[in-house]
Amino acid sequence: MSIRLDRLAPVWRDRVGAAVEFLTERGFTGKVGLVLGSGLGNFVDAVEDAEAIEYGDIPGYTTTTVAEHTGRLVTGTAAGVPVVVMQGRLHPYEGLPNEELLLPTAVLACLGIDTAVVTNAAGGLNRYYRPGDLMVIRDQVDMHFHDPLRGLMTRPFAPAEDADASLHAELAAIGRSGGMPDLFDPRLADQLVAAAAKCGVPMHAGTYASMSGPAYEAKAEIGMLRRIGCDAVGMSTAPETVLLKRLGVSPVGLSCITNPARETGQPQLSHQDVVEVGKLVRERMARLLLEFLPRVGS
Ligand code: HPA
Repeated sequence: MSIRLDRLAPVWRDRVGAAVEFLTERGFTGKVGLVLGSGLGNFVDAVEDAEAIEYGDIPGYTTTTVAEHTGRLVTGTAAGVPVVVMQGRLHPYEGLPNEELLLPTAVLACLGIDTAVVTNAAGGLNRYYRPGDLMVIRDQVDMHFHDPLRGLMTRPFAPAEDADASLHAELAAIGRSGGMPDLFDPRLADQLVAAAAKCGVPMHAGTYASMSGPAYEAKAEIGMLRRIGCDAVGMSTAPETVLLKRLGVSPVGLSCITNPARETGQPQLSHQDVVEVGKLVRERMARLLLEFLPRVGS
């Protein structure tokens, strides 16, 4: 995957390349990459012939500062599809520079995947969303207000070489290479919705707002996010998907709604509710992903 490594700025390329070489020698490769968000790591139980490695044992990786997030990379097959799974991620609210925060995502892209399913736990902004529902991410609003790729790419305005021809045509049409039309592949999003219908999992489709955190949103911020058209809010995903797309990987986004964002007027969840919702949403997500994976590329 040297074409992807070549897109990275020299200061970053060697670090990413060292991790890619280390992991490739140990058989870490796949067709689909998955990033499992907070509390959603159980999907790795469905990976067959699994090899796993702690992030701390991979050269160049920063381990998470957040106690409840385990950090492991797992490879194997799920529903017959070769996968590489990030069980746990770093978050912007940990205060790390982007070259630390995004290194595992760049490595994932360079391990040869062509699609990445990026999952997260999120608060529901849309009044119709309930804890335990899932939402396919159709688009995102990145509230970090600084492009995560600053300083990390060799040619920041060039489209990804191995992105498909239609993307190049769209980029030409809007006259601005480096734009992000269809950041989330609509065909893959449709497949995720179809997979949800097939396995009886309630599914919404909407826009994800990525906040810096770690503080949860103030009521006025929730009001603003709803008014600008966001359906779910969390503290991850947006920087990763921008990087994946620029490296020619198609991102698919999946939010697991764990709580209503507070301005919606619903009561706060008790700890017991949170535990119950967590169990429900994990079970649904794992079932959905197993139904979805064979559809990628079909
Ligand atoms: N806000 C931000 N991040 C979240 C939330 C929320 O309400 N729920 C889960 N992650």
